[in-house]
Amino acid sequence: MNSLSNLLEEINKYKYFVADAKFLSLWPEIHTALKSKKVFCLDSPEENKNFEIYQQAIDFFLSEGITRDSHLIVIGGGATSDFGGFIASTILRGIKWSVVPTTLLAAVDASVGGKVGINHQKGKNLIGSFHLPENNYFYYDFLKTLAEEEMQSGKGEVLKYCFLSQEIFDLVNMEGLSQKTVQACIDYKMQIVEKDFYEKGERIQLNLGHTLGHALEKCENIPHGLCVAWGLEKILELFSPSLLDHFYTSLKKLELTIPEVQKLDKDAFFSYLKSDKKKNIEGEISIIIPRSIGEIEIKKIETKELKDIILSNDNTKNYF
Ligand code: GLY
Repeated sequence: MNSLSNLLEEINKYKYFVADAKFLSLWPEIHTALKSKKVFCLDSPEENKNFEIYQQAIDFFLSEGITRDSHLIVIGGGATSDFGGFIASTILRGIKWSVVPTTLLAAVDASVGGKVGINHQKGKNLIGSFHLPENNYFYYDFLKTLAEEEMQSGKGEVLKYCFLSQEIFDLVNMEGLSQKTVQACIDYKMQIVEKDFYEKGERIQLNLGHTLGHALEKCENIPHGLCVAWGLEKILELFSPSLLDHFYTSLKKLELTIPEVQKLDKDAFFSYLKSDKKKNIEGEISIIIPRSIGEIEIKKIETKELKDIILSNDNTKNYF
């Protein structure tokens, strides 16, 4: 989506929306365009993507006459697209939806590939499904109103792609973050998702950096993408130190800063590693290890063995 007027034209064709309240306050053009529409506004999406608000949204759309032919448009960051996509995937047994990602994190990850869901007290995204959006309307200038912390978080996911794709690595190392770089990440993810929608094989590589990153996210209040960048750095330190130079040059090009991590709660960290819904199958975790740029190994490892490796490595043992 190259211009705001094209986006507004698209928006105008539809009636039902889920939108991030804060984003609407920053973009009056969009806010005004939604005045005559049926909009469910989401405040603090990560906190509110839960059962209670899900029920409120379903009540709202049903009472506003949504039908199986309706098409829901979801405007917001990752948590909003998870939530809105989940509404679309479940209401009336599923209706079509499209997404307008408004953050870098949503653009390069959450809005692409149809993973949708809400949180449960026991963990993030534990209720969800796979429901691909029909269209993805990304408008690069939305990033101009993004808070620096959110920008940093999105860059953590971009950094991940540098190790999955030689093309993205080269682009980042030539021009840092740009519209072209973001588009390359989106295209790369789409290509993987087309081959492995239900994450039975190749799609697992998109979890690079997430195994240790999610455990950090559980222990500390650090934005998701920064946890991914930290998790990627640890995986390289533990299993592929020869790629650390590439890690630091890409980090610099992206103007990304890895979070300072102090002592972590050892029990909480390792018990989270053990219970991670996606990666733990019968006591084994799948970790993704870059072997060279664009080449990864998916290694199954016992959680106990990974713990021993982490606690004996000079770079990682001091976190505990
Ligand atoms: N966030 C990883 C995926 O969509 O598969």
